[in-house]
Amino acid sequence: MSTSFQNIKGTFDILPDAHTDDGGTRTAASAEWRHVEATVRDVMRRHNFEEIRTPVLEPTELVARGVGASTDIVQKEMFAFERGDTQYVLRPEITAPVVRSFLQHHLDQRGGVQKLFYIGPCFRAEQPQKGRYRQFHQFGIEVLGADQPRADAETIAVLMAVCDALGLSDLRLRLNTLGTPECREEYVGALQDFLEPYADELSETSRRRLERNPLRILDTKKAHEQEILRDAPTLIDFVNEKSRTHYDTVKGLLDDLGVEYVEDPHLVRGLDYYTETTFELEHPGLGAQSALAGGGRYDRLAEVLGSDAPVPAVGFAAGMERLFLALDAADVELADTPTPDVFIAALGEEAERWGFRTAQALRAEGLHVAHDLMGRSLKAQMKEANRQNAPHTMIIGGNELEAEAATVKEMESGAQEEVPFDGLIEYLTRTAQTA
Ligand code: HAM
Repeated sequence: MSTSFQNIKGTFDILPDAHTDDGGTRTAASAEWRHVEATVRDVMRRHNFEEIRTPVLEPTELVARGVGASTDIVQKEMFAFERGDTQYVLRPEITAPVVRSFLQHHLDQRGGVQKLFYIGPCFRAEQPQKGRYRQFHQFGIEVLGADQPRADAETIAVLMAVCDALGLSDLRLRLNTLGTPECREEYVGALQDFLEPYADELSETSRRRLERNPLRILDTKKAHEQEILRDAPTLIDFVNEKSRTHYDTVKGLLDDLGVEYVEDPHLVRGLDYYTETTFELEHPGLGAQSALAGGGRYDRLAEVLGSDAPVPAVGFAAGMERLFLALDAADVELADTPTPDVFIAALGEEAERWGFRTAQALRAEGLHVAHDLMGRSLKAQMKEANRQNAPHTMIIGGNELEAEAATVKEMESGAQEEVPFDGLIEYLTRTAQTA
């Protein structure tokens, strides 16, 4: 079969079976997605997080202000458009939307710290490549109203717990502190002064960043720029006492939990809202797009979005497609596509009607039941039962209707049994449980 249409570059379909795109990247099966999502939900439940779901469409200004006007996301990666006099954006991330929702609905009035998690799609107009898409999915958490270092450490612990529950190891956690915006501003000035004499040696991108967003130069992957940066002033020297103590406490708490990390003074992250602790989690299976997840504290974001009171907060988001890439590289096997407990093969009109009713009755009991909807021959139905990997097939024809007993075939051994109609539910429920 064919169609004139294809999915948009940088997006992908999640199908019942895993499939591979032109670039050789594997897209996981829907059952694998469900397995990861269920694992995330279970870890969230254990850590006492509640779910929040915000719209995919948000006001453009929320992202521009929240993420920061000079960031790559706002400069060139937003899917934004206008309708009437409203400016819409397909959300590129979920932190600013969660803070908007928290403020709009006065979630602080629920009392205490709000521990929220989310799973959902995000959109960035990036150049698509392995691990980098235009529609991708994040799961993440935001801990709102907590200024204690324990909130930072717990945020990281939740991320590690998800990876652990999925069987993913070989991870590298990079950790840094950005201090307060005031210390950072002072540092940015010192960094600019240091880099100015090297301006001619910098790449086009870095030269642009030198004016607008000098911190991002620290992110450079270019060896000669890394060389120049070797003697650059370091941010930690500008971080005040309070921020340093906060950072030291976070590290101590991670030590207590046995979470390993490497300190990276050049880790600045690509979004403007960060303050204090920042981190990124990497996996070697990801290649160039090595970050599986990133996050940190953003104590000033609520005020940037118009709050009249500060809301100290910390969170992370992980890219689900990158998680699958890492799980693949690490050969971690996830859930198989579910198979029916029983396939009903019926022959003749009356048997088909009986089979149709019985399928519904068995499903109401919780069984996973497949049957034929194409009016195929018994042989073709048996073949289909095999293809669907049903452990049992129930065969119904004129004789069975007369005897009021179905023939149940165990597909692997070929053994057949007559099961009276009134004993079918009990029989199939028992075999489904032992299968
Ligand atoms: P981020 O580092 O921009 O942070 O994104 C988090 C994760 O989303 C990345 O580590 C990556 O796995 C995934 N990701 C980002 N862009 C793409 C893409 N184009 N294709 C595939 N995966 C991608 C944030 O979004 C912050 N909101 C995280 C946060 C939450 N900070 C505090 N709370």
